[in-house]
Amino acid sequence: MTRHLRVDGPNHDDRLDHMAQGVIGQPLNRLEGPLKVTGRATYAAEARPEGMIYGVLVQAAIPAGKVLEIGDAPGALAVIQDKRMIRYGAQGMDEKGPTSGPNQVEYMGQAIALVVAETFEAARHAAQNLAIRYKAKTVPVNPEAVTPELPPKKQSAVGNVDKAMRKAAFCVDQVWHTPAQVAAAMEPHAAIAEWDGNSVTIRAGLQMLSSNRKQMADALGIRESRVRLLAPYVGGGFGSKLGINAEAVAAAIAARELGRPVMVAMTRQQVFDLAHRRSETRQRIRLACDADGHLSGIGHEALVSSLPGSEFSEPVTQATPFTYQAAHRQIVHAVARIHRSPAGSVRAPGEAVGVTVFECAMDELAEAAGIDPVDLRLKNIPDVEPTTERPFSSHKLAEALREGARRFGWADRRPTGQRVEGEWLIGMGMAAAVRVNMLVESRARVTLVQDGHAIVETDMTDIGTGTYTILGQLAAEMLGLPADRVEVRLGDTDFPPAAGSGGSFGAASSGNSVYLACEEIRSRIAKAMGCNEADLTLQDGMARAGNVVRSLAELVDGTITAEGHLEPGKTEKSHRQATWGSHWAEVAVNRWTGEVRVRRMMGVFACGRVLNEKTARSQCLGGMTFGIGIALTEAMEHDPRDGHAVSHDLAEYHIPTHADVPALEVHFLPERDAYVGPLQAKGLGELGICGAGAAVLNAIHNACGVRVRELPATPDRII
Ligand code: MOS
Repeated sequence: MTRHLRVDGPNHDDRLDHMAQGVIGQPLNRLEGPLKVTGRATYAAEARPEGMIYGVLVQAAIPAGKVLEIGDAPGALAVIQDKRMIRYGAQGMDEKGPTSGPNQVEYMGQAIALVVAETFEAARHAAQNLAIRYKAKTVPVNPEAVTPELPPKKQSAVGNVDKAMRKAAFCVDQVWHTPAQVAAAMEPHAAIAEWDGNSVTIRAGLQMLSSNRKQMADALGIRESRVRLLAPYVGGGFGSKLGINAEAVAAAIAARELGRPVMVAMTRQQVFDLAHRRSETRQRIRLACDADGHLSGIGHEALVSSLPGSEFSEPVTQATPFTYQAAHRQIVHAVARIHRSPAGSVRAPGEAVGVTVFECAMDELAEAAGIDPVDLRLKNIPDVEPTTERPFSSHKLAEALREGARRFGWADRRPTGQRVEGEWLIGMGMAAAVRVNMLVESRARVTLVQDGHAIVETDMTDIGTGTYTILGQLAAEMLGLPADRVEVRLGDTDFPPAAGSGGSFGAASSGNSVYLACEEIRSRIAKAMGCNEADLTLQDGMARAGNVVRSLAELVDGTITAEGHLEPGKTEKSHRQATWGSHWAEVAVNRWTGEVRVRRMMGVFACGRVLNEKTARSQCLGGMTFGIGIALTEAMEHDPRDGHAVSHDLAEYHIPTHADVPALEVHFLPERDAYVGPLQAKGLGELGICGAGAAVLNAIHNACGVRVRELPATPDRII
């Protein structure tokens, strides 16, 4: 029995606010926490099927061209060259990379072959000693060196920004550069493939199993039903595991060819080459306002890069059309086709760097106009989405700004350069947070067992985000069971297909499907009780309706199983859906070294219903930490001669460490969004990233008067 719901209208039902147990939103500890800290949660590379052999990916040593010949590999069982490895290794998401022949090289470091041997050491040794002959081609590797494409659908203009700039009382016209960034998940990409006849089972680190299964079936030329993917625990994804990668395809091909299970695990260095990067960006922002600080013109011109033939391009301007109002607006999105590692989704694609830069520009305009940065934003918040005039499904930017200013003590901020403590210059900065909200089709199966426990099954993943916990919490609430009486099974394509983890849509989308399945079970229990489902209370394994109280053991004949199926519908188009917040930072800048220490940071967020206060907060802490990274430390460098990734590990690619991150404060604004399904919950995972870096950069300016427009703001750029 399946309960479907297409979200075609609002849901004003507040039932989850009045459930008997009231566990939704509670800061429950992670259900899988003990398994993780005791090493019993197994990751992709930890299985050891009988007879398993090892594959090591071989990488191209030229920026582009052809592999002419691969020499012998003494000690290896096989050297496999296959174009499918390249196609799927070259892109994130579900799109294929450039259509390449088996010998084609599109970028330096690309996977070109797999060497398989009895042991990992033998495979690595053979791979390192392979003699490879290439025919190299000269290709562009620098985004500024090519004429970019201007995809027509990504350009937009209303009015005339040039004119608005000429007539403005105050304006800003500046160019920012953000470097390439990488996902930098703790768990390097790995896969173990094992065939049984014509069917393959692949354990891998993946974010979106149902679409990954389609990709794998396509890559292997077999039916989807012949592919089973397992990813019960994933050590972080951050976009890099949204699509299948070279290691999983290579493992499957080699396992079929050799008739044995094959493991392929990337080294940390290979992850930097083979998992996609976030494109570097060049962003020109123009802002024009009148004497009162009302915006009259907004221009956002972005240049990003990706491989020729790739569909993905960093959606830098995604939030620009609807964050602020102005009569004249222009968006330009240019794509430079270059041969560096593929560009793909990384930690809040678009807004992470787009909102960050835009919010720096807003700070510059506030300074130019002599208006408080919070007031400037408050003056320019639209009532409906500009251009389309669609209403917002929910919109708490103004509240987030006011609440943040109050909590952070914004009133104490001093003018630029006026707060000095010894050799440290102290400053405060703020920025708005905004991220589009998405809902994605999702299914889940819930089984209620007579003895008072329940099982949730869906191919949803938990990439460290807390999915196990929130889905368990939801089923516990809906079925009136203690949370530890709900078993959550995830990460297996044998279970109903879920939204997967990506784009901040995972929790709300998969959560709604669990909700629907439970609603179906509740209506079956209500029928047995002879009451309406709405009048039914389930608590502590008992069912109550009016004066009638019966135990689940009496009402349930063995088990009740139901599926929930959520589909996005009309509200996706009828309303602009987004999440909102505000970021606040206080920094100290050393007057002699230019070193920046973030002293405190705070975020205020509105994301609809919060499903678990602890896991939600953790998402925001992570996001704000990425914000510090974007502002101060993270940069992936590419060699300008051949485009190869120079930053190859976490020693060279600097993510903020504990010492870089002060105690962060997170506050949630109470909010229910009626247009995003019965949970009334929006996405949260990435909101904490969007704009966080701008609060830090704006605080640097307030401290010492320096505007850093080439990120990250390393000491050399501040001094
Ligand atoms: Mo996210 S970068 O869509 O995994």
